Amino acid sequence: MADLEGLKVAKDYHIDTPFANQDGFYVKGANSLDWGMKRHLANIFNPKSGNTVMFAFDHGYFMGSTAGLERLDLLLPKLAPYVDCFMGTRGAIRTCLKPEYTNAIALRVTSGSSMVQADLSHEVVAVDIEDSIRMNADCMASQVFIGADGQLSSIDNLSKVINAGMRYSVPTLGVCAVGKDMERTDRFFKLATRIIAEMGCQMVKTYNCENFEEVVAACPVPIVVAGGKKLAEKDALTLAYDVISKGARGVDMGRNIFQSQHPVEMAQAVHKVVHEGFTDKEAYEFYEDLIH
Ligand code: R5P
Repeated sequence: MADLEGLKVAKDYHIDTPFANQDGFYVKGANSLDWGMKRHLANIFNPKSGNTVMFAFDHGYFMGSTAGLERLDLLLPKLAPYVDCFMGTRGAIRTCLKPEYTNAIALRVTSGSSMVQADLSHEVVAVDIEDSIRMNADCMASQVFIGADGQLSSIDNLSKVINAGMRYSVPTLGVCAVGKDMERTDRFFKLATRIIAEMGCQMVKTYNCENFEEVVAACPVPIVVAGGKKLAEKDALTLAYDVISKGARGVDMGRNIFQSQHPVEMAQAVHKVVHEGFTDKEAYEFYEDLIH
């Protein structure tokens, strides 16, 4: 085991040097994957921009009916033209999203906790690989609780999901959890994202933080950033712009879209930042024009 006291603080991130092993396929870290994996990743990450707008609506799996997500059957069709990927549970997707929609699917496969518990860090793998394949999932989302009580079991879950995904060429999205008592520092996110990537995930979902560009540089697979708590639309667009400027390959945004008074217009504005190089200011002006 590494001697912790002898560990040097990592600092040489070479922020301005692009990822080296990138020839042949545009998704970071995916060069050595097979055709099926690449095809799923190409469904998620737009081949032109290399980025993705994921719409996260998996909140119900531990929060029940959530403000803004009461009627998924009405909301999802409206957002479909503006998001690349729907991230949800199989129950929500099978019941509320018509198969005619060709958006990529990020299928939440871990669950087991609920808002009425104090500790949310204990989950199980609740969806098997066969059902993920039946649903034509482009990736399976498995949550990891680094530094929490459930760290070991969540890494066990993640390993099982990745191993099954490797057998059938279905990528895994490692979802970096942050509990209410867990720090949101770059030190924490560098630790968590790198552990998740080295477990073998093909992409990692995490949060913005100070020195975010270093988190990105040290992570050998694409990072998508969660929106987090509802912010003013202007601030949510600044968050999206900030992380894309620092190397994130997309956002996995939930509440900042579905709890907006204008979710469809907000999704369109986020799309402009993620895919068309809009600044946050330009995207907010675009949003304002749409809603007035
Ligand atoms: C967390 O486990 C879930 O994956 C959420 O869907 C995720 O945090 C993204 O949603 P939000 O942008 O609302 O944070």
